[in-house]
Amino acid sequence: KQDEDQLIIDAGQKQFGATTCSSCGMVYSADNPEDHFQHTQFHQRFLDSIKFVGWKKERVVAEFWDGKILLVMPDDPKYAIKKAEDVRLVADSELGFQQVTLSRPTQAKTYLFINTERMVVGCLVAESIRQAYRVLEQPDQLKDMTKDDFMERHRAWCCSTVPEQALCGISRIWVFSLARRQGIATRMLDTVRSTFMYGSHLTKEEISFSDPTPDGKLFATKYSNT
Ligand code: ACO
Ligand code: ZN
Repeated sequence: KQDEDQLIIDAGQKQFGATTCSSCGMVYSADNPEDHFQHTQFHQRFLDSIKFVGWKKERVVAEFWDGKILLVMPDDPKYAIKKAEDVRLVADSELGFQQVTLSRPTQAKTYLFINTERMVVGCLVAESIRQAYRVLEQPDQLKDMTKDDFMERHRAWCCSTVPEQALCGISRIWVFSLARRQGIATRMLDTVRSTFMYGSHLTKEEISFSDPTPDGKLFATKYSNT
């Protein structure tokens, strides 16, 4: 009897001790030294990836009171490509993307939102495309699903089978967890529309999101309707 009680107490504490870091997103048990150590390492690597030291040549495509947006092109210097890649990997790991290479790396344009504390808090990868499939409205019964269920079941059939004209595909959009709901994704997309194609301003319909996550759909739906 006593052993049984003890087991229950231990299990309870394990549950209780699980923490999600609000910066790097890692789930770990704070009272487990090994976990604690792993988190410290992961956290540091995360911060290094989004740290921005400033570049000799920066292609500033938008400026705001709380930051600026830089555009990184495929032929840019190595340090710029490397930073864009590092941030994209952070985003990919959060999005659960396994595939680490872009479909057409030589075409991709990366937009980085740098805040006033010199951190890359937003990353958007845009590629030229010829056609796209419109994302369909989310049926109501899906709203109770867990995120994992959703991702697994939803990706396969969320899109229309009728191709539509689109010029720019957003293959990644990510905003640092502590900087969300401040219009950073919105401002990055507005900037893509005015700078992606030289000399022309893209409409919202000419932009499409590839393989959106639940967060991505909520955002994209809001963005397309405003
Ligand atoms: N839930 C509900 N509505 C949302 C959400 C959300 N999670 N995120 C954005 N919106 C809507 C809101 O209406 C919001 O306006 P409000 O804050 O005034 O209500 C509006 O969209 C604009 O939001 P922004 O502040 O511009 O978006 P944010 O900078 O927070 O970035 C993003 C949104 C990129 C989806 C962010 O939540 C994120 O990085 N999530 C994790 C990564 C991810 O899932 N990315 C999308 C992958 S799909 C793809 O890459 C093609
Ligand atoms: Zn952390």
